[in-house]
Amino acid sequence: MSDKRIVVLISGSGSNLQAIIDQASSGRIPGRIAAVISNKADAYGLTRASNAGIATAVLSHRDYEDRAAFDQALQQQIDSYEPDLVVLAGFMRILTPEFVRHYAGRLFNIHPSLLPKYKGLHTHQRALEAGDAEHGCTVHFVTEELDGGPLVVQAATPVQSGDDADSLQQRVHHLEHRIYPLAVEWFCAGRLSLNNGQVMLDGAALPATGYRYQDE
Ligand code: GAR
Repeated sequence: MSDKRIVVLISGSGSNLQAIIDQASSGRIPGRIAAVISNKADAYGLTRASNAGIATAVLSHRDYEDRAAFDQALQQQIDSYEPDLVVLAGFMRILTPEFVRHYAGRLFNIHPSLLPKYKGLHTHQRALEAGDAEHGCTVHFVTEELDGGPLVVQAATPVQSGDDADSLQQRVHHLEHRIYPLAVEWFCAGRLSLNNGQVMLDGAALPATGYRYQDE
């Protein structure tokens, strides 16, 4: 089986990108990152990509008239790398339905909450304010509903009495770096797919909450 081609979209630090780079170069992920694309020229993730010898591109949404025009240009740029999988790793843009449909079944996102809880922003603060006993992160297939697609894998951490949004974010980020490479590995190995809206892993349907990752 030939290695899968992955394109990663970022807007910022790219620590999740780094986790995927590390697992791909260790050989654990049977795929290679063909390109990293950012909508921000100063995203540190671009440096991470260059350091790993990965092609980079910057497409600023400010250079386009509207969201549809930007997404079309982005799609063209992505497709020039002929990806099997497109990975949103801290890509802070809302995507048009046309874009999302084009990549149906091969577009992943990671979100810092236990979806369906806390779609959108400020997830750590919201979990604290709600008095949740646990908080975490989710990898999901992207659909037209923002942060709403079928769940692939979740990891949770107990909320501790002294936690603030920063401490919680740090622990969740650590978990993100575990589950995102795992989901990419499964996909690239042909173990994971989306079948009529149902996530399948190793031939079996996953529950609606996805696979629950247990940190060692
Ligand atoms: C991550 O925490 C990711 O879950 C979040 O952005 C951060 C990017 O960090 N994504 C979202 O909030 C998307 N709704 P990174 O650039 O260090 O990977």
